[in-house]
This record gives sequence, structure tokens and C-alpha cells, in this order.
Amino acid sequence: MTPRRAKIAAVGTCVPERVVTNDDLSLTLDTSDEWISTRSGIRRRHIAADGQAASDLGSVAASRALAAAGVSPAELDLIIATSISSDMPFPATASLISGNIGADGVPAFDLSAACTGFVYALAAANAFIASGQAAKVLVIGAEAVSKMIDWTDRSTAVLFGDAAGAVLLAPVAEGETGIIGFDLGNDPGGAGQLSIPAGGSRLPASAETVQERQHFIKMNGREVFKFATRVLASSAGKVLDQHGFRVEDVDLFIPHQANIRIIDAAARKLGLAPEKVFSNLENYGNTSCASIPLCLDEAARAGRLKAGDLVLMVGFGGGLSWGSCLARW
Ligand code: UT7
Repeated sequence: MTPRRAKIAAVGTCVPERVVTNDDLSLTLDTSDEWISTRSGIRRRHIAADGQAASDLGSVAASRALAAAGVSPAELDLIIATSISSDMPFPATASLISGNIGADGVPAFDLSAACTGFVYALAAANAFIASGQAAKVLVIGAEAVSKMIDWTDRSTAVLFGDAAGAVLLAPVAEGETGIIGFDLGNDPGGAGQLSIPAGGSRLPASAETVQERQHFIKMNGREVFKFATRVLASSAGKVLDQHGFRVEDVDLFIPHQANIRIIDAAARKLGLAPEKVFSNLENYGNTSCASIPLCLDEAARAGRLKAGDLVLMVGFGGGLSWGSCLARW
């Protein structure tokens, strides 16, 4: 059997209403708009309301992707969600979203690969379609990361934002190319550089873990920065090589939105023209698993992503993990 090719058939997103600027943060933290914007490129981020969880944002994004595709929830074969801020350890956020969007009976599971989750989930969905096990697969990156932030830690609090992005994957039509390939990787030696240490079976919740603020994101920013700059360029180069493309062939490069300095350094290493690099982190911060679909949606709406364009998406994050996806839009 020839594997079926899959394409991204539609995108939907959702950001919470509340906008928090760098100046707002500097009222409660020893930081400044100048430090945050020059060190990271971030100027503002959206923050979920009290009681608003990852699945709430993910459900809206999912319904919007389905509406854009003209597909009903009952037609779905599979739902994969990915998040570093799942509603709870279990059941899966994908299951909660399926209930919210009216996809009863549709298989639903979560995939965990930290901020690289979206690219890994695309790869999993692509494999389900290629093998004929599914035709219409919804992939959702849903984040209410603000709930996992230590708002007294200026080294992480200024970086993240909340959002969700969903894509519908479906088999290509005659003559379409769709998803071309992936490069996925992981460096377990860096597991301690970026994590939420407590709340799992290694360090179960206790009065001490709460007091020591171990339930929040901990990051060694400098080490993650070095790793990210390296893998963004190397993984992008690898997936291009594997499929016989050159950097000049890329129409739009969509990297995970963590820091504009990481993005610029990787683009320089790759030799990519600045106009081919998409970035919107100025307005959203690092939205983890939602950052790439949020960019896809904005780029398509802005006319920077047109049918037939070669798009290169690259994610990275905890693990330390990385993943690239090359596709024809
Ligand atoms: O999706 C997950 C992936 N995450 C990432 O990719 C993040 C990667 N890392 C980064 O983006 C950067 O390392 C940061 C933005 C986190 C930090 O930038 P940096 O240029 O690496 O700064 P630094 O950590 O070397 O800190 C420089 C100084 C320190 O002060 P001293 O030790 O030089 O006196 C920090 O204490 O900046 C201080 N600092 C701050 N100052 C004002 C750290 N955070 C802040 C802050 N405001 N928010």
C-alpha cells in the first residue's frame, strides 16, 4: 500500500482576552519593558482568566479549525492534544476537548513533548493518516501556561503567554503535496534544564513541594538558549537535506516563538532572508505548544502563506526536545 500523504487543511486559534504588557509586569516584578523587549523581543502576552484552563482555549481553537474546514466533530477519526499546562494529570486534555466540541466517541489522547509537542503531534497525526488508520485528525496545542508560572520569578514570568491553536489534518487531494517530512530528536541529558519538577510520581505534591515552589516552570535560560539556537538551525537543515531542498527554497520559516534572539541567530546560521522568517512573539510571548499554529494562522491571514508555499516549522523545548516539519501549504 502506498502511504497516503496528509495536509494541514485548516487552522483555528484562541487567545484569552486579557493582555498584560511588560510595563504591567514591572509593577510587581523587578524588571522593565526595556529588559524584556531587548532580551526576548516580547512586549505583551495574553493571560487566561481565573478558572480558564488549557482545554477551554483548546476547545474554541478546535471548533474554529473545524468550522474553517467545514468538517463536523462527528466526522473526526482522532483528536491529539499537546500541552505543558494540561487541565490535570489525567484524563487527557484531548478527552475534555472532545466533550466540549461534541466529538463523543472519537478517540482522543494527549502527547507530551513539552514545547515541541505540536510538531511531535503533527508527526503522529501524519503517521495515522499515512498508514490508513485515520483520515481526519485534529491536532491541538492548548496552553494556560500562566497557571504554571511562578509569578515571583522574573526569569520565567516575563516570557510565557496563554493561547491555543488547532489544525485539521486530512489526506491530500489529487496533485497536492501537503506534509513532506519530519526531523524529530531529543537530548535526555538536558532534562533538568527545563521542567516542572513536582506533582508527578518523582516528587509528589506535598506541603514542602508547594512551599519550595516546585510546581512551577524552572528553567536554566542560558543553557536552553544555547541548545535552542543550535537545534533550530541543525534540525531545519536536516529536514531540508533529507528531502532534497535548499534553504533558498523555503518560502516561510516558522520557528517556535521563545525569544527573538534565538530566532534571529538561527535564521542567520541557516542563511535565511529575514522576510522569510515569521515571528509574532512580540504580542503573545512564548505560548509553548500553541506557538506554531498561532503563527500559521496569522501568516495565512496576512497573506504570507499562500497555496504551494514551502513552509518549514521548527519546535524545541523541554526534554530537551526538537522537531521540524516541512510542508507545502
Ligand atoms: O519554550 C521553552 C524554551 N525556552 C527558551 O527558549 C528560553 C531560552 N532562554 C532565553 O530566552 C534567555 O536566556 C532569557 C530571556 C531567559 C534570559 O536572557 P539572557 O540574556 O540569557 O539573560 P541571563 O539569564 O543571562 O540574565 C542576565 C541578567 C541576570 O542578572 P546578572 O546575573 O547579570 O546580574 C539576571 O538576573 O538579567 C537578570 N534578569 C532580569 N533582569 C530584569 C533575568 N530576568 C530578568 C528580568 N528583568 N525579567
